[in-house]
Amino acid sequence: MRDLLSELDWDKVGDDLDRSGFALTGPLLTRAQCAEVVDLFDVDEVFRSTVVMARHAYGEGRYRYFGDPLVPIVRDLRERLYPPLARIANRWAELLGERSFPAELDGLVAECAAAGQHRPTPLLLRYGPSGYNCLHQDVYGELTFPLQVAIMLNRPDEDFTGGESVFVEQRPRQQSRAMVARPRQGQGMVFPVRHRPVPGKRGYRRVALRHGVSEVHSGQRHVLGIIFHNAV
Ligand SMILES: [Fe+2]
Repeated sequence: MRDLLSELDWDKVGDDLDRSGFALTGPLLTRAQCAEVVDLFDVDEVFRSTVVMARHAYGEGRYRYFGDPLVPIVRDLRERLYPPLARIANRWAELLGERSFPAELDGLVAECAAAGQHRPTPLLLRYGPSGYNCLHQDVYGELTFPLQVAIMLNRPDEDFTGGESVFVEQRPRQQSRAMVARPRQGQGMVFPVRHRPVPGKRGYRRVALRHGVSEVHSGQRHVLGIIFHNAV
């Protein structure tokens, strides 16, 4: 099978993140792999917990956190997406005077464990008609890796309508800026967990980002979320 991840243009991902606050990647999963991951949603054994979003006023839909050991397709994505993202994260860390991150995922997982963050955070989300996700950030403890990836598993306008991915940047002392992404099936979205560096008059400053999903009008929308830091 073609190795989709090896074909990714990470310089472009970094440039897009710097310019607009999020990046769409080339395809990360084939159509068959997307279907394989969607089917996992109903396999209870591979998950450690399930969240019904309406119960927490997070939105409308369900998501499930994968348990250890992660299913191979999710484990491989997390391991292989991490190193190029760590390079972007470390460039940002230097601009903002923040901590840097290990080059490989093993190193980050070890640091998470030392900070009491043991539980894996990759998750699978399912939205049906009227489903949506309020704007939020995915912070699970003290240790936060600054970038995350969400992979679209369905075909917009064919499998579902509505359900755009929404990003809102809160710039200090300015009005917020909204962005909308419509990834194709298999495409990934890369975006900051909490904030990113933006050049200002006196060096770089932090601009906070929240993400969410607009209302799904019809069909089912599944997304695989890859978060790299583990949870408490
Ligand atoms: Fe999220």
